[in-house]
Amino acid sequence: MAEFQAVAKVGDIPEGQGRAFAVNDRMVAVFNDGGEHFAIDDFCPHMGAALSDGHVEKGVVACPWHAWRFCVRDGTWCDNPRIKIDRFDLRIEGDKIEVLVPPKR
Ligand code: FES
Repeated sequence: MAEFQAVAKVGDIPEGQGRAFAVNDRMVAVFNDGGEHFAIDDFCPHMGAALSDGHVEKGVVACPWHAWRFCVRDGTWCDNPRIKIDRFDLRIEGDKIEVLVPPKR
C-alpha cells in the first residue's frame, strides 16, 4: 500500500512555480499556487512536456510547450474537462510537503 512520502520542504517551491519529483517510478509535479500546494502528474498528455516547468496561477497551470491548461486541484484539462490527468493527495507535515502516489499499474 502506498504511503505519504516527503518530497520537499515548505518554502522550497516559489509561488507560481512547480517542481518535479520521482515518487514510486512516476514523475509528480508539485505546485505552489498562492501558498497552497498541489500535486498532479508531471507528464503533459499532449506531447510530454514537464508540467512542473509551467506557470501556475489561480488553480491553473499552463504547459510550457503549447499552453494547454490543467487544473492543479483535480488534474482536469481546462479546455475539455472530460480529459483528466492524475492528481495526488498532498499534505503538509511540519515543514515537509508529502505526497501519496500509488505505484503505476
Ligand atoms: S506538450 Fe503540453 S501542450 Fe503540448
